[in-house]
Amino acid sequence: MSLSVNSQRLIAVSDIRGKESVQQSNGEIRIKPDVCSACSGTSWEQVPGKGVRPCRCRNEEHRQRLMRAANLPRLYDGCSLLNYKPVMGNASQLRAFNYACRLAENYPADGRGILFMGSCGVGKTHLSVAILRGLLDKGVRCLFYDFGALLKQIQASYNANTQMSELEILAPVIDTEVLVLDELGASRPTEWVRDTMLQIIRARYNDRRMTIFTSNYMDEGCGGESETLEDRIGVRLRSRLYQMCQTVVIEGEDYRQRFDKQS
Ligand SMILES: Nc1ncnc2c1ncn2[C@@H]1O[C@H](COP(=O)(O)OP(=O)(O)OP(=O)(O)O)[C@@H](O)[C@H]1O
Ligand SMILES: [Mg+2]
Ligand SMILES: [Zn+2]
Repeated sequence: MSLSVNSQRLIAVSDIRGKESVQQSNGEIRIKPDVCSACSGTSWEQVPGKGVRPCRCRNEEHRQRLMRAANLPRLYDGCSLLNYKPVMGNASQLRAFNYACRLAENYPADGRGILFMGSCGVGKTHLSVAILRGLLDKGVRCLFYDFGALLKQIQASYNANTQMSELEILAPVIDTEVLVLDELGASRPTEWVRDTMLQIIRARYNDRRMTIFTSNYMDEGCGGESETLEDRIGVRLRSRLYQMCQTVVIEGEDYRQRFDKQS
């Protein structure tokens, strides 16, 4: 069947849930908001002569729910392990890619996370998001946060009278199975920032929940910014990270410059 909308040729295709979707002539697929044909939206599928059973659309719905709850940045919509291409001859990028693949593959075998360190545009956030996508596909509850944005939200919810921040914001960050904290050390390291970071990370560390970090700040002797990660986050937090995470330094040029060269 073909439909004509906005003078574009659309082809009707069927997705796994039996819903009708349309594929535009440019190849993009748009799914019509439709109910599942196997269960008519009840989540229970009738089996003739036998009764009812949970419908297969539940898994897909569950996955979509996990995806929405993960707070992945839209800028990284297309980022996955499949389209991270280590630059030819760059051993640090190949190593980072291999760590990311192994972690996504083996989770939860080894609960240790990764601390990606490196300069701008080397793919730290791309790889972190890609790992989350892999885990979300396995049904793992994940959450992404830019650390600075998280601190702002916590600060905004701080109540001077009770001297507490809203549990509403902190609880999911502490409880989620896997957390990405992007841009560790980027916020000005006031005492409050260090205290808050330590609280979150200590709680996750004590519960052995996996956390993946990215940072532009390096350890002493790795080059990079003049300030070290330890200068930014404090010695106690850096110490915990050694145990919680495998440190993975990524070197290379800013990949974003390629977008500029293409245009
Ligand atoms: N090796 C790679 N293969 C494919 N895409 C890459 C690669 N490295 C980086 N990119 C792309 O380049 C852009 C910048 O990467 P990303 O945001 O992950 O860098 P970053 O290391 O987190 O930088 P920053 O420190 O500035 O946050 C993204 O669009 C990402 O998808
Ligand atoms: Mg980044
Ligand atoms: Zn169904």
